[in-house]
Amino acid sequence: MARNVAQQERQEVKFREQCFLAGMLHDIGQLILAFGLHEEYSEVISRAKSQNVPVWQVEREFFGATHADVGAYLLALWGLPNPIIEAVAMHHQPTQCAVPEFSPAIAVHAADVFAHAFSGTNTEMPPPQIDTAHLTSLGLAERIEIWRASCQEMTET
Ligand SMILES: [Fe+2]
Ligand SMILES: [Fe+2]
Repeated sequence: MARNVAQQERQEVKFREQCFLAGMLHDIGQLILAFGLHEEYSEVISRAKSQNVPVWQVEREFFGATHADVGAYLLALWGLPNPIIEAVAMHHQPTQCAVPEFSPAIAVHAADVFAHAFSGTNTEMPPPQIDTAHLTSLGLAERIEIWRASCQEMTET
């Protein structure tokens, strides 16, 4: 879906492929935390659900880092390109990106919201929300529904 969002914005192949990879890997930090800190992570998930607070905020309280931080750190160790690392690091908070423009981070942020909404997965409870204010500041407000519709179409084919 992140690649699809980039396609909607007529980005070049390299950008689109970075979106694809970042999208595939965006929540890899959750696997690391869930496997490495199994009991604590179960508690994080249940607290996020019971308090209706984004899971990454509870992670920050528990571990001092979020699954986005942990995932991005791993991908940096693996030597992946910076736009992919940034997309994973900022997928919940695209306002933190270095440059305020459409980027793989924005594509992954939006696709993450769509994917969680369409699939109904509960790995991030409450479901992530799109940062409409930030996308509006980037001049992308009217693009959101176009992206959503085209990503929804992907789930139907
Ligand atoms: Fe996430
Ligand atoms: Fe996600």
